[in-house]
Amino acid sequence: MNIKKICCIGAGYVGGPTMAVIAQKCPHITVTVVDINESRIDAWNSQNLADLPVFEPGLDDIVKEARGRNLFFSIDVDKAIAEADMIFISVNTPTKTYGKGKGMAADLKYIELCARQIAKVSQSDKIVVEKSTLPVRTASAIRSILDNTGNGVHYQILSNPEFLAEGTAVQDLLFPDRVLIGGDNATDEGKKAISDLVDIYANWVPRDKILTTNVWSSELSKLTANAFLAQRVSSINAMSEICENTGADINEVAKAIGMDSRIGPKFLKASVGFGGSCFQKDILNLVYIAKSYGLNQVADYWEQVILMNNHQKQRFSDNIVSTLYNTVSGKKITFLGWAFKKDTNDTRESAAIMVADNLLNEQAEISVYDPKVNAEKIYADMDYLNTRSSDENRRLITVHDNPSQACEDSHGIAILTEWDEFIDYDWGNIYESMNKPAFVFDGRGILNKKTLEDIGFVYYKIGSGE
Ligand code: NAD
Ligand code: UGA
Repeated sequence: MNIKKICCIGAGYVGGPTMAVIAQKCPHITVTVVDINESRIDAWNSQNLADLPVFEPGLDDIVKEARGRNLFFSIDVDKAIAEADMIFISVNTPTKTYGKGKGMAADLKYIELCARQIAKVSQSDKIVVEKSTLPVRTASAIRSILDNTGNGVHYQILSNPEFLAEGTAVQDLLFPDRVLIGGDNATDEGKKAISDLVDIYANWVPRDKILTTNVWSSELSKLTANAFLAQRVSSINAMSEICENTGADINEVAKAIGMDSRIGPKFLKASVGFGGSCFQKDILNLVYIAKSYGLNQVADYWEQVILMNNHQKQRFSDNIVSTLYNTVSGKKITFLGWAFKKDTNDTRESAAIMVADNLLNEQAEISVYDPKVNAEKIYADMDYLNTRSSDENRRLITVHDNPSQACEDSHGIAILTEWDEFIDYDWGNIYESMNKPAFVFDGRGILNKKTLEDIGFVYYKIGSGE
């Protein structure tokens, strides 16, 4: 094993947990995670493990074990790059908000900055690993920058996309379905780099689960996996609307089709729409790539997954308005959940944001409770939309740290995230404290219809036509 020092650029949702697990499983390797965001690094170094910047079940124990031993978080990017044998690039690759490809293409400026910094600082040969999700053929751009602006040292570029899902990141990293490594398998140096990275993962991942391919297949497989996953959600959500119109029940339909081993039972949960930082961005990127090759039918095919998702969020809020007698003006609507899924504090592209925006356009007042998302983040999400002033967002949205208070005097409760604790609430007490008739709009299908109706609620469940 040659690799003694790893540097990871980007201490976010991927860089932090991924490197924590590598450090835990490879005590013989020093892993330094660097970031330009000083407060994020401070939070990773926080003595109080509850203050880590990423909440993931089990992550605190891993950080506790490895941090200070062979896991370090630092803002000294140059030093970590210079010392490393292997450098992971794990920075954000958001959708472009300007220029050519605006609203579709991936913005690669952070990737390019990393490549230029690596080229500037490196005085010894390095293996550079793409961990961020990237358009296919990005490795050639990185290679061009490294070779043309570097100090004459040699680089190998690998693609090692990350497949973890938030909320289950630690389990996904410890027991991955597969690890994918793309590299230059036509040269000895390329093969050696691939085997160096394989050896790292082989410390805890069975070798038959470590897949090696060429770089382009690896880059494209990541976009493909996310496109297929998101497509499943949009497919089941499309069916949920048919269910609501026909008397079928989406959970029954999902169970019936999921027992077909060719379809399988996972990722068939109807919802108010998928969120998260990646599905939409990666599909838009795929659509952009297809268009740039003139593959318009392919582009249209995948774009429909996003259109369906937007429709699902829109129809959820439309249904709240029409059910509440066609007006929510001045009415209090309580949001249970703001995160894009349970067990994470991440709110990026959460369905809650668009639903809130739609309801605020209808002059509703919104109160929010989420077990892991604080007020600051909720207001920041709404301010980012630029639909209304920041003062107005603060006037119209109240964030609570107590669910009972959030529900008091409410006209309707909308369940936006499937947090387990919502199932166990004392719904009888909540009912008593609300305006009547009291409505529940279950955008995650987690509550029991009969129990709620017996209490007195008017209960709507996504995908239930009964
Ligand atoms: P993130 O925004 O949480 O973290 C990225 C970090 O990179 C930020 O802290 C930012 O300050 C830092 N950064 C940006 N430019 C930098 C630079 N030049 N030098 C040092 N630090 C820099 O993003 P994330 O969610 O961790 O995602 C990172 C990549 O991984 C993306 O490409 C994403 O598509 C992919 N991905 C994300 C997930 C996920 O669940 N979030 C899963 C798989 C893959
Ligand atoms: C997703 C993929 O699952 C990961 O493999 C991938 O690495 C990651 O994107 C990424 O590239 O960022 P993540 O977005 O963290 O992970 O979470 P998912 O569990 O995939 O959920 C995404 C969204 O779909 C959530 O809003 C979730 O509530 C929704 N969803 C998921 C459904 O509505 N129904 C389902 O059956 C499954």
